[in-house]
Amino acid sequence: MESNGNIAIDGPAGAGKSTIARLLAERLNYLYIDTGAMYRALAWKALRKGLDLTDESGLSRLAEDTEIMLRVDPEGKNLVYCDHVDVTEDIRLPEVSRNVSLVAKVPGVRRRMVELQRRMASSGRVVMDGRDIGTHVLPDAPYKFFLTASLDERARRRFMELKQQGHAVTLDEVKEEIRMRDHTDAKREVAPLVQAPEAMLIDTTGLSPEEVIRMILARCHGGGKH
Ligand code: DC
Repeated sequence: MESNGNIAIDGPAGAGKSTIARLLAERLNYLYIDTGAMYRALAWKALRKGLDLTDESGLSRLAEDTEIMLRVDPEGKNLVYCDHVDVTEDIRLPEVSRNVSLVAKVPGVRRRMVELQRRMASSGRVVMDGRDIGTHVLPDAPYKFFLTASLDERARRRFMELKQQGHAVTLDEVKEEIRMRDHTDAKREVAPLVQAPEAMLIDTTGLSPEEVIRMILARCHGGGKH
């Protein structure tokens, strides 16, 4: 691979992005950057402080004053820190999932996050997943993928995940939350969820992570968009 070997993975909630991105990073010895976790960490802090989530300038100021760090522990687990507090578990709470899109649509918040994300990707050896990575954060990434799956499948995956973590939610609630979130993410004015024209579209419905990884690696070894 060339010096900029960054891999951008975008797609709606529950399409399998984080599972795939994590495995891929491990396989390639790349750094995995979960940009959704960064927006979640900020949403978590805003909720904890009781901020008004429609107050765009308040949220932008909060983003400027917040230190978000991603690191991998010795067992290979991805940890998320917000102002040096480990928020890895808390940012997956349903309350954060329900509200994160409101925080993520604020232009000032996005500006700050994108700046941090570009800095993290400067090594040229990252797998970054999110909504606007191929279109906006890393437009020059040589390898771009857009993962999707049917709404039913995405809701089922999220539901299983949440159930395993002990959250009391119903499949219908999860489906509704994902539907609403996709709507807000795709309709927002700044860097909405959209497939980059040169990204390879992969429908992961019915595919195993290994099958998806194989498709991605085949494309990367074939030279990406070049
Ligand atoms: O990937 P996730 O479900 O953890 O992301 C949480 C939210 O963050 C998602 O609803 C939209 C937002 N997000 C974004 O706007 N841009 C990104 N690059 C990543 C996530």
